[in-house]
Amino acid sequence: MSGSSQVYRASTTAPVNIAVIKYWGKRDTALNLPTNSSLSVTLSQKSLRTHTTASCSESFSGPDSLILNNEPEDIQSSKRTQACLKHLRSLREQLEAKDASLPKLSKLTLRIVSSNNFPTAAGLASSAAGFAALVRAIADLYELPQTPQELSLIARQGSGSACRSLMGGYVAWRAGTKEDGSDSIAEEVAPMSHWPEMRALILVVSAEKKGVPSTAGMQTTVETSTLAPARFNEIVPKRMAEIEKAIQEKDFETFARITMQDSNSFHAICLDSWPPIHYLNDVSRAAMSAVETANRKAGKLICAYTFDAGPNAVIYYLAEHTHEVAGVFRSVLPRLPGWEGEFAEQIRPNEYGSLDS
Ligand code: DP6
Repeated sequence: MSGSSQVYRASTTAPVNIAVIKYWGKRDTALNLPTNSSLSVTLSQKSLRTHTTASCSESFSGPDSLILNNEPEDIQSSKRTQACLKHLRSLREQLEAKDASLPKLSKLTLRIVSSNNFPTAAGLASSAAGFAALVRAIADLYELPQTPQELSLIARQGSGSACRSLMGGYVAWRAGTKEDGSDSIAEEVAPMSHWPEMRALILVVSAEKKGVPSTAGMQTTVETSTLAPARFNEIVPKRMAEIEKAIQEKDFETFARITMQDSNSFHAICLDSWPPIHYLNDVSRAAMSAVETANRKAGKLICAYTFDAGPNAVIYYLAEHTHEVAGVFRSVLPRLPGWEGEFAEQIRPNEYGSLDS
């Protein structure tokens, strides 16, 4: 069927991921290439996800547009969004060039509508879910044959951590060494079903927008931190290997230790930057103490904290220790503005897209 009023549409959702080995530093700011590899756990979409609908039609006029949480976003001046759209369009053009019967969707104006069910830019990795959902919605709209791994290369240009939200389970983003970034992609280290007992507790310490945005903060760190080179070149490569082994062997104590060490190392290079970057606050530090108390009481590591570019804590633990972990947090942090436990589960990419025809 064809006709100028036809609207082509695809909707998808993408999950949030929380890194246990942090990405903090770019070796190429235009292509969003990182100074080090990173590794994350994909969280359940039940309470943290971005929902995105992409549509195009001959009846749409004007430039491409994006509405995020009911507000129009200026995507014309966003180089990163433009890079994603350009890449996706060129892949669609290649399909159209091969098969003349395909509608020329690559020529049509795109309208994208997106919403998060959690605070945007509060250090809860909203840009990760956001760009992952945008890329997958348009890839589905264009019926692109690319795998999630190939799409991760596009999402990475939107926001580095977004490349890890295109897959479920335990996901590594390989920094790569090529200048064009073609080997800087995400890959699943293990599906969530490999270690389904993993749980993540999100402590929303603050839903305010974060002070220093990631992109600016990272550049300050790369340019000024004297500790950062050791982290990029020696510490992280060793930890990546160790934590991947811990995941394969379901060794929670090693997983927990490395997770906490890496979060602390990331915040240490932030503090070592000039001007210094502070993301943690007193409630964050109380959450760290609560984890230490729970681990001390248990006589082993049963939970691990990690913090992104904001004060919110994410606590990883195994289902069997839910009561001990929740108990410590209830008694140590009784007046937290709000906290909720969230189950991590396997996310199956490409399950949600559809193309109206
Ligand atoms: C602290 O992916 O938001 O959450 O590539 O500049 O968009 P840009 O940065 P972004 O940075 C995330 C940083 C982090 C650590 C992580 O998720 O690995």
